[in-house]
Amino acid sequence: MNAIFTTTDIQLRKQRLAAAWQSILSNDEVVLIHSGTPIQKPGGLDQNYPFLPHPSYFWLTGRRREGEVVLYSKNSGWIEFQKAYTRDQLVWEGNMHDLLVDDKGMDVSTLDEYLKKNKFSQLYHLGQSGQPVTAGKTFDLRTALDQTRRKKDAAEIRFIKQLADIAGHGYGALKKALHPGITEKEVQVIYESEIFRRGAQTVPYDSIVGAGTNAAILHALPTQRIINENEFVLVDAGVDVYDYCVDITRTYGSSANMSAQHKALYQLVYSVQMECIELTKSGNFWRDVHSKAATLFTEGLLSMGILKGNLSDLIEKQVISVFFPHGLGHLVGIRVRDTGHEENINPKTYFGARLRVDIQLEEGHLITVEPGVYFIKALLEAADTRDRFNAFINWNELSKWMHIGGVRIEDNILVTKEGNENLTQVVEKLADI
Ligand code: GLY
Ligand code: MN
Ligand code: MN
Repeated sequence: MNAIFTTTDIQLRKQRLAAAWQSILSNDEVVLIHSGTPIQKPGGLDQNYPFLPHPSYFWLTGRRREGEVVLYSKNSGWIEFQKAYTRDQLVWEGNMHDLLVDDKGMDVSTLDEYLKKNKFSQLYHLGQSGQPVTAGKTFDLRTALDQTRRKKDAAEIRFIKQLADIAGHGYGALKKALHPGITEKEVQVIYESEIFRRGAQTVPYDSIVGAGTNAAILHALPTQRIINENEFVLVDAGVDVYDYCVDITRTYGSSANMSAQHKALYQLVYSVQMECIELTKSGNFWRDVHSKAATLFTEGLLSMGILKGNLSDLIEKQVISVFFPHGLGHLVGIRVRDTGHEENINPKTYFGARLRVDIQLEEGHLITVEPGVYFIKALLEAADTRDRFNAFINWNELSKWMHIGGVRIEDNILVTKEGNENLTQVVEKLADI
């Protein structure tokens, strides 16, 4: 794999971050960003989970080694404290994860001595430091780091588009193979074998495949269930290379001629996704885009006869929360949940859904737009749902929709100066099924 970033990309990131910290940090303070240490598998065996460097460390250095630190102070600028591979590591693992390694930094064994000598008034630990960050300057520094890192640079965008291309081949292959009689598991295998052949290192989350009523399970793991005629097949599957990823959902019909109900639900979700993508632009608050989706879904289910009553009552009571129980999307980039947690430590709910990110959109943000409507037994048959929403749901009509499962459509949208760009557009999306 070629280097994802150049050393110039890395230098520019360091400059951007130093500027973001300018008003927070005093001259004699220092910030240390740790790559982290591997986690041992339970049981004390001599095996670790695959080591994933802290995303901030990787973003700032292009390095993926454990136990390293990059440091910044206004007086010293950026200094990298690096760690040579041990002989054991080279014997067992090789150096296959080096990307931009020039090894021109200091040796990490000299870090303590460096810190002592420079008599910094305060040390702040970020990255995988093992210390919780709840308040104060460390929190402010981390928030500024996240806000800086969240704005994707040209190298990252280029790379993410390559991942989308890989996913496009995976989705193309599964779509070709999709027909009644194959299993959910086969769909997964076809998708994953194609993306691995094309350069994916791993999947960013367990690939989701749900047919029929399984489409209503938000994170359905593929089973040996056979896909029947006239069923939705919801596939939510990504591509991961060096922790960068895409997170894509498509919903297919298993037969050439799907029922009118399937078509109606699909078209509702598709049109809501299109409208929300349109709103995914600089200056808009994400909560408002989510709320727009929830409102449009309320209107849609009312006109389909699944909801009943007055639109403003339905909106006020947030009845849609049992059909659209998740947020409209989340930041994506390095891993499937990119930055966003600092500003969202006490998440609020909007239309009954806890948003995974609650920010104002800016140029460079990359966010999933993934509206979905589902008929989820566990929610719709719950006693409290019946109590709260009894007057607003047409239960008789709803019973005719339960077998439909659900629809989700998900793309990764980059906020640009002019509006936005759909980075996962290469994955074919039908306006109709
Ligand atoms: N693929 C899981 C998610 O969208 O969060
Ligand atoms: Mn997804
Ligand atoms: Mn997602």
